[in-house]
Amino acid sequence: MTTGPLQSLALKGLHLLDAEKAHRLTVLALKSGLLSAKAAPRDPRLKVTHWDLEFPNPLGMAAGFDKNADVPDAVLNLGFGFAEVGSVTPLAQPGNPRPRVFRLAADEGVINRYGFNNEGHKAMRERLLARKVKDGIVGINVGANKNATDRIADYVSGINEFADLASYFTVNISSPNTPGLRDLQARSALADLLQGVVAARDARAEETGRRVPLLLKIAPDVVEEDLKDIVEEVQDKAVDGLIVSNTTVDRTGLSGEGPHQEAGGLSGRPLFRKSTIALARARKLAGPDLLIVGVGGIDSAETAWTKIAAGADLLQVYSSLVFKGPGLVGEILTGLADRLDKHGFASLREARDANVDAWASEEL
Ligand code: FNR
Repeated sequence: MTTGPLQSLALKGLHLLDAEKAHRLTVLALKSGLLSAKAAPRDPRLKVTHWDLEFPNPLGMAAGFDKNADVPDAVLNLGFGFAEVGSVTPLAQPGNPRPRVFRLAADEGVINRYGFNNEGHKAMRERLLARKVKDGIVGINVGANKNATDRIADYVSGINEFADLASYFTVNISSPNTPGLRDLQARSALADLLQGVVAARDARAEETGRRVPLLLKIAPDVVEEDLKDIVEEVQDKAVDGLIVSNTTVDRTGLSGEGPHQEAGGLSGRPLFRKSTIALARARKLAGPDLLIVGVGGIDSAETAWTKIAAGADLLQVYSSLVFKGPGLVGEILTGLADRLDKHGFASLREARDANVDAWASEEL
């Protein structure tokens, strides 16, 4: 069972509300301790270590759920191995007019065009400083203000602001909802951006004594040639990893029911195939050593396992929680442990890449 009776009742109730209100209520419920899940299994074989970070399990909450770092600890208490907060921009900004997030119930997908609504660096910093216990892995996803005159400076400012607080950084250049943002994925712009954020990270490491790992989050819509450029730049600038992927602007394969024509980024089940192909291609281009986080349409232990077989070291999920509730976290972790048993593997690393060739050669 994914959810208990109370949880499924609560989910039905939330789905009567518009998607943004439901999101806000869920964050509030987590904040007040009203929403929790049965303790997720703590199987030592699910532990993974990258850099100086020991992830209790490989499944993280993706960016966009906790945009302002209101509830990182409550998210971790749901059983996640790590939480990513943000995207956060230097200045607070309202995002796009409402409605701006839509559930596609028949497809188990979500379309959002929030447009980086968030309270800005200062408010997030205060919240992170106020955490009572600063345990657990909390990554900070940094973005650029819509009206920024120098977008690279906005990312650099995020690195400077949070270098003493972030377990890791994600540089998000793949949101479809800030006009022009994804142009930073083009090679020469990307080279400048990566040089800037890596230099800022290294300079701050001199002061803090810790070199915060830096990941780049990309869109699933980049064509093969651009993906090759991105991986080369990531390796050239010694960026620590990739997150594949953000939402897609593609609408192929949808049932046509519900608000499928809304503008924005599509996530959830309809994104699974495309994001998994991009993941496998990135793995093949990068070789075995680069850390890659697989995200997009994970909604079960089977789809989580598939991402690992397609090249992922770590996983993230967001949209399927909207449809299945927080019990999904435990279900995925139990299912991953079961699969280790079945294959006689001692760790998830042994399962990685088993299907990378097949996924990388799938037609888009
Ligand atoms: C997102 N996502 C996202 N990503 C990001 O880097 N910064 C952000 O602010 C947001 N905001 C956001 C809002 C909403 C409502 C959704 C559904 C998604 C993208 C998210 O982190 C993830 O990459 C995709 O949603 C794919 O994963 P799922 O949802 O298919 O598991």
